[in-house]
Amino acid sequence: MPRRDLHQKPYDEGTQDKLDLYREYLREWLPVFINLPSVETLQIFDFFAGPGNDTEGNPGSPLITCEEIRKALNHHGNRTKKIRAYFNECAADKYQDLSSCIDEQRIALPQVEFTIKQSDFHSVFEQWEPLMRGKTANLLFLDQNGVQQITEDIFKTIVRLSLTDVIFFISSGMVNRFKNIQEIRKYVPVTDADFVPMNGKNVHRIVADAYRRWIPEGHTYYRGSFSIQKGPNVYGLVFGSHHPRGIDKFLHIAWRKGGDANFDIDNDGIDPNAPSLFSEYDKPTKITVFEKDLEIEVLEHRILTNKEVYIFSLQCGVLGSHAKAAMNKMVKEEKLPHQVFRISYGAWTKPNAEPIKHF
Ligand SMILES: C[S@@+](CC[C@H](N)C(=O)[O-])C[C@H]1O[C@@H](n2cnc3c(N)ncnc32)[C@H](O)[C@@H]1O
Repeated sequence: MPRRDLHQKPYDEGTQDKLDLYREYLREWLPVFINLPSVETLQIFDFFAGPGNDTEGNPGSPLITCEEIRKALNHHGNRTKKIRAYFNECAADKYQDLSSCIDEQRIALPQVEFTIKQSDFHSVFEQWEPLMRGKTANLLFLDQNGVQQITEDIFKTIVRLSLTDVIFFISSGMVNRFKNIQEIRKYVPVTDADFVPMNGKNVHRIVADAYRRWIPEGHTYYRGSFSIQKGPNVYGLVFGSHHPRGIDKFLHIAWRKGGDANFDIDNDGIDPNAPSLFSEYDKPTKITVFEKDLEIEVLEHRILTNKEVYIFSLQCGVLGSHAKAAMNKMVKEEKLPHQVFRISYGAWTKPNAEPIKHF
């Protein structure tokens, strides 16, 4: 299938949204591990790095990585922590540009050890994966073209790594477009049942959710997704982390950008500049669906504590604050007695969970 090369012109809005999300996550991720004594080394792996920037000099993922490391070190100033940045790009011309781009960064970032490779993704992943074990915290950015590179094996290997968060890109629209071609099922964990509700708008949400099938047994793994629309095409990012704090941070970033999409994925028609008279009408469908699901789980006693509410909210792709509002709504509607709900990452870290009181 012929592919557009995004480095032949300035990054479009969709690409900027994708890179912004990467930047913002990196900005949240760096200080956590710079300040965590048990971690000796922070490592960022950018497996599909491109040349470093676009034709107008706008920063691509490699320059974004360098800019954010510099800012984090200036703010958090831990000069003893080792930081390693790994970049790979298979195309010879882009690799040359990438090398020059990173050479310019080395002087300003003497604390950072850079590794640059010109290799195919699968072979470099095999080389670098053993480096991700040990007392290291890893952030993997897999900005592939298309859908084919993140295979079941690769995904499972990543999930099995501890202290490793991943953000990967997928051209999900292709899955919907080529749904009649059996081969597409080889590359993504979708089943025939997934194709029934799938359309050009919700495709990335469904594809991202399907990765739960590739989580190896016995692993608690949190996933997030963000759909990006450009013209008629929808693609997006998939996020993965073992830790509630990772997904909590990802979701906060995503909700600042509108929820789980940079467009009106559920046809909600909400205009933030012209709120309606009744706030219920300004509630995104995603939140309304969550409120109903949470109510059933709580009232049928399957969710028993504030921590379980918090984890459920993360699994549903909404924030602790959404969950708290949903619980308060149940109190207001006299489905639960009056009580104070502490539903946030802070509550999750406390040793004791607070039971939910019922009538
Ligand atoms: C979507 S672009 C990445 C853009 C980059 N993150 C940026 O911010 O500019 C994908 C890049 O991966 C490279 N690429 C494609 N297939 C690859 C493979 N199998 N192994 C390594 N690199 C590959 C392409 O040449 C392209 O530069």
